[in-house]
Amino acid sequence: MENLRSHVDSAFSYAPGKAILVGEHAVVYGARAIAMPLLNGVRVAVSKLPSDQKSVGPLIRGMGLFLGDISLNSSSAPPNFLLALEYLVKTFGARTNELFVLVDGSLPPGRGLGSSAALSVALLRGISQYFGEPLSHEMLWEHASALETIFHGRPSGIDHSVVIHGSVIGFQRRDNELKLWPIKVKHPLTFVVGIASPHAGTKNAVARLNDRRMRHERMYARLFDGLDELAGLMEEALTLGRLSQIGELMNMAQGYLNALSVSTAELERLCELARKNGALGAKLTGAGGGGAVIALTENDGHDLANTFRTLGFQSFVTNVSGTAVKNLGESHAY
Ligand code: PMV
Repeated sequence: MENLRSHVDSAFSYAPGKAILVGEHAVVYGARAIAMPLLNGVRVAVSKLPSDQKSVGPLIRGMGLFLGDISLNSSSAPPNFLLALEYLVKTFGARTNELFVLVDGSLPPGRGLGSSAALSVALLRGISQYFGEPLSHEMLWEHASALETIFHGRPSGIDHSVVIHGSVIGFQRRDNELKLWPIKVKHPLTFVVGIASPHAGTKNAVARLNDRRMRHERMYARLFDGLDELAGLMEEALTLGRLSQIGELMNMAQGYLNALSVSTAELERLCELARKNGALGAKLTGAGGGGAVIALTENDGHDLANTFRTLGFQSFVTNVSGTAVKNLGESHAY
């Protein structure tokens, strides 16, 4: 069959951000976790670099997610970006020198909202599509895993799993065995995301938590067991559509995260504000130590989002339903 590449001038792809509903950190120690995609995500357009321009590896121009141009010959790019680019060149070969990649996104980075996983998946989908060699689900997962390792150290894999899957998932990694299962949410849910100060990096948060765990091994094991049980209850509440129970379980998860010392005064304040303004439940999401909170609402969420904004916090509303986030464009080529 004729190579699709001969018909493709540009390829476009999209990958959603993510939030963890229950189980961050505990998932690193084998507990079950539940994650959901966000409507906000990362869009990528891959086309041919104009012939009067030269690049080593793809030339990546960030618009929303980051600003400016990055290629392997740019000295100012952050080191992990350069390593990620090297990985892309290793994966797709020297033909990546001819690529111009526009990246646009509506995910604030460093907030535990899956911006690096979404960027990785959107780039992998867009570039493979451009070359007419779309990656299988398994290969996409493997490459996204390698890129996430560059960005985050040794991630559990929950971020890129939910970003690739595009709908609510249960996730567990124990003794090197990975389990991932779809969770059918009975009723559509509306969450308000409140953005706090950036965190100091997932790698750092995971390492510091491990230091504390070594000092309080038995207590931490109990906390992880509690979070694992919460994940089981959360799955049941989601599939049965028990809205107020989902909210209460989120509040409990936040209590556990506080006990694990990954919450901050600012995150607690945002959770409290959400609850006082009618949210059924609120918790931090992701690595903590900064980042973002998610709050479950019974209405369209705009009042709470405005309350957050009035107090100086960025905010957006996201919805979760039983179907995958596809509306903003699965990978496709023109
Ligand atoms: O990268 P973040 O902030 O979304 O955190 C990921 C969740 C952790 O459980 C803290 C780390 C991991 O690898 O699962």
